[in-house]
Amino acid sequence: MTETLRFDDRVVVVTGAGAGLGRSHALGFAARGAKVVVNDLGGGGHGEGKSSEAADQVVAEILAAGGEAVANYDSVENGESIIRTALDNFDRVDVVVNNAGILRDSSFAKMTDEDWDMVYRVHALGAYKVTKAAWPIMLEQGYGRIINTASAAGIYGNFGQANYSFAKRGLIGPPTHWPLKVPGKVSRSMLLRRWRVPA
Ligand SMILES: NC(=O)c1ccc[n+]([C@@H]2O[C@H](COP(=O)([O-])OP(=O)(O)OC[C@H]3O[C@@H](n4cnc5c(N)ncnc54)[C@H](O)[C@@H]3O)[C@@H](O)[C@H]2O)c1
Repeated sequence: MTETLRFDDRVVVVTGAGAGLGRSHALGFAARGAKVVVNDLGGGGHGEGKSSEAADQVVAEILAAGGEAVANYDSVENGESIIRTALDNFDRVDVVVNNAGILRDSSFAKMTDEDWDMVYRVHALGAYKVTKAAWPIMLEQGYGRIINTASAAGIYGNFGQANYSFAKRGLIGPPTHWPLKVPGKVSRSMLLRRWRVPA
């Protein structure tokens, strides 16, 4: 029989957790005992607008099921504020799931600088900002896990997604590099996308 994974007393930040895969990650971690920061900007799929509704709804679901969660409505570009929410409410941060995402598909000929920049800022810069803010806390704790949500488009490319492919490829690279910067403190696990600070 498979043993159920538990995350009791772990604090998990899931970005873009107001919908889709992020919502599912947040509910899954909470059901297994984690305290969850449900981050979501609550805008449209192309990066327009913002709202607190999406994150609030997922927090309400977690609380109704007897779990612990708090909402954060910042863009992932504001990583420090997201990690501050974890520290203010739960005093630590053990796991970061860099999941938030938008799409601005277009053939490369028609792609605007804005299409390129917005996708880069959410997927690549956002993951960097949240990870950068969590990193010293994880080192101090002697424990941490970072999970980057990449995509097959980042490996193989996809028509109309030069911007997305570029950004997702960028999420695969850092976990191969970051651990090498702090030898003995951080080790890599699970094929490029996840790395950890061992206890
Ligand atoms: N769905 C797929 O088939 C698939 C495949 C490969 C990779 N992915 C990746 O998985 C992740 C989740 O995809 P999904 O299909 O669940 O997407 P989704 O659109 O359902 O959810 C993404 C969430 O991110 C939030 N978000 C967008 N910009 C944000 C920002 N700046 N700051 C904080 N939150 C922000 C949105 O409000 C939304 O709730 C994305 O990174 C996506 O690129 C998805």
